[in-house]
Amino acid sequence: MERFDQIASRYRQTSLVQASAGAKLIELLDIPQSADILDVGCGTGNLTAELAKRTTGEVTGIDPSGEMVRVASEAFSNQRTSFVKMDAEGIAFREEFDIVYCNSAFQWFRNPARFLDNARTALRPGGRIGIQAPARHDYCPAFIAAIETCSENPEIGKVFSGFRPPWFFLETENEYRSLFEQAGFRVLFCTIEESRSLRTPQQAFDVFCSGARAGYLDPACYNGEWPEGFEAAFLDGIHQAFERQADNDGMIDLMFHRIFIVAER
Ligand SMILES: C[S@@+](CC[C@H](N)C(=O)[O-])C[C@H]1O[C@@H](n2cnc3c(N)ncnc32)[C@H](O)[C@@H]1O
Repeated sequence: MERFDQIASRYRQTSLVQASAGAKLIELLDIPQSADILDVGCGTGNLTAELAKRTTGEVTGIDPSGEMVRVASEAFSNQRTSFVKMDAEGIAFREEFDIVYCNSAFQWFRNPARFLDNARTALRPGGRIGIQAPARHDYCPAFIAAIETCSENPEIGKVFSGFRPPWFFLETENEYRSLFEQAGFRVLFCTIEESRSLRTPQQAFDVFCSGARAGYLDPACYNGEWPEGFEAAFLDGIHQAFERQADNDGMIDLMFHRIFIVAER
């Protein structure tokens, strides 16, 4: 998965908002002491390592990005923690885990329903799945405003008009709940939250680069031409747009709509 290979080296430093939402998801899951855990879309493994602190069982992180898996393995592989290159749609475990954890990755899945079927099969009876992901088309108003500002530049706007988002967002808690129920889960907790933090323009840019960038700068997401220099011009435009969004104290209110779901097999 090339789009994530490119951001793997800096992901641990830039994934500020994923880390805080991921910590909250760990709390919500109330992990049993010896649970075996599958971390789907584990990235560089920061949260996989946190999960390993909560159990005496085995923790497996999977991710389709070879670079993410390499960085995670180098930092966190040990007797109880391992990382495998595998995508959510290709999970082939059967009743091997007590917990399936999936933080800030679900929105990227090409086939969320297939993932949920796979996750259910991978769980032991009574096992739990916990997912946190950005939700709603206006998942982060500051990002959307920055894209709009950036697209006012005619050169960027022309290319950007061919952009087809790779993300999967639902608009309501009920839609998320139904998806899980259709896969045979009993939903225990389901809420879309507004999670806010004050960030400098540079931090907002780093957060943008830790996730959204991988979609906005994937040539496969564009119908039309992809001229040389587009990536640099686009990133420069986003950076400047964040500078302009800062308030008198130099800060941006970075708000994400986030779905948190915990469900039981
Ligand atoms: C923003 S990172 C989140 C990483 C980590 N879970 C965290 O919260 O820090 C999103 C991850 O989802 C992975 N991903 C994208 N598509 C995926 C798929 N179809 N199956 C599993 N993981 C996928 C990416 O490779 C990337 O590492």
